[in-house]
Amino acid sequence: MSRAIVLRETGGPDKLLWENIEVGEARAGELRIRHTAIGVNFHDTYVRSGLYRTLTLPGIPGIEATGIVEQVGAGVSEFVRGDRIYYIDESYGGYAEARLLPARLAIRLPDSISDEAAASITLKGLTADMLLHHVRRTRSGEMLLIHAAAGAVGQSLVRWAKHIGASVIATVGTPSKAEIARECGADHVILYRQEDFVERVAQLTAGRGVDAAYDSVGADTFLGSLECLGYFGTLVNFGQSSGAVAPFSVSLLSRRSNSVVRPLLFHYIRDRVSLQAMADATFAAIEAGVIKPQIGLRVPLAEAREAHLALESRSTTGAVILLP
Ligand SMILES: NC(=O)c1ccc[n+]([C@@H]2O[C@H](COP(=O)([O-])OP(=O)(O)OC[C@H]3O[C@@H](n4cnc5c(N)ncnc54)[C@H](OP(=O)(O)O)[C@@H]3O)[C@@H](O)[C@H]2O)c1
Repeated sequence: MSRAIVLRETGGPDKLLWENIEVGEARAGELRIRHTAIGVNFHDTYVRSGLYRTLTLPGIPGIEATGIVEQVGAGVSEFVRGDRIYYIDESYGGYAEARLLPARLAIRLPDSISDEAAASITLKGLTADMLLHHVRRTRSGEMLLIHAAAGAVGQSLVRWAKHIGASVIATVGTPSKAEIARECGADHVILYRQEDFVERVAQLTAGRGVDAAYDSVGADTFLGSLECLGYFGTLVNFGQSSGAVAPFSVSLLSRRSNSVVRPLLFHYIRDRVSLQAMADATFAAIEAGVIKPQIGLRVPLAEAREAHLALESRSTTGAVILLP
């Protein structure tokens, strides 16, 4: 018998229930994993609230975790009992003490990266890699707008963009988050709850606008981000922390021959080769100090609801992890 957070119906954080579950034996192609640290993502709140209907209910939410291999199913030769692994699973199951996992999703963790660090930064680092290198290739000297820059993805995005040599205009909700964005290397920081970020970006770029706007905030910022683009600039909408983006008129893109993309990390890591290559790039970036694990909040797994409350109240900085 093991325990897990089970979602039986969508709704508020109180729908995250702590229940007994049966994990069972690893079948062919599977590993049984005992989790050591579980990453919390804004995605998990979309699933819990019902904005995303991607988890079959009742189900165990959670898309990433670190753990130890407890049992190896038939036909799996790459792992042995006791291996330390990390995974991302778009089919969920992460908010649990233990689970069965398709071995093809497991990635071996470098010794230099602790279990907690891996759970806090791997998915966020992969996302930054996707946004800066795969969705569009960021070049030294480009001007970027990055919203929610003190958040978990935001911090890695700012640090990696600066490493490439881009200039970064960051937006954040509070003065203490502004400090964090500056520590990550942001050249300019806008308190977007107090200041009009569209006006400030126009001032800071002398009217030229930015080459790319990285917008995970969604509803509240989407149209403003479009206005911040320079000629041929791209709006990369990769999240919706403030709510889903409303339908918009494509003709808005003709203002400066702009484009909008809406990438999803799962699509960029859907085959083993891409997953391993992007994980290697992220682990290398961590080891080189390009991006840094920043755990803002550790919550016992049984109290996962506290983690969701904190994320949705905008009170977190850096990553939130659950400890089984
Ligand atoms: N497309 C992908 O594949 C992908 C992958 C990973 C993450 N994401 C997206 O990236 C975003 C960041 O994820 P994360 O896990 O790192 O979370 P996070 O950025 O640490 O937390 C969300 C932040 O968004 C800002 N925010 C603005 N309006 C908000 C509102 N109404 N309610 C709550 N927060 C609001 C807050 O920062 P301020 O106080 O500074 O405004 C908040 O701290 C999410 O939108 C997530 O869905 C997408």
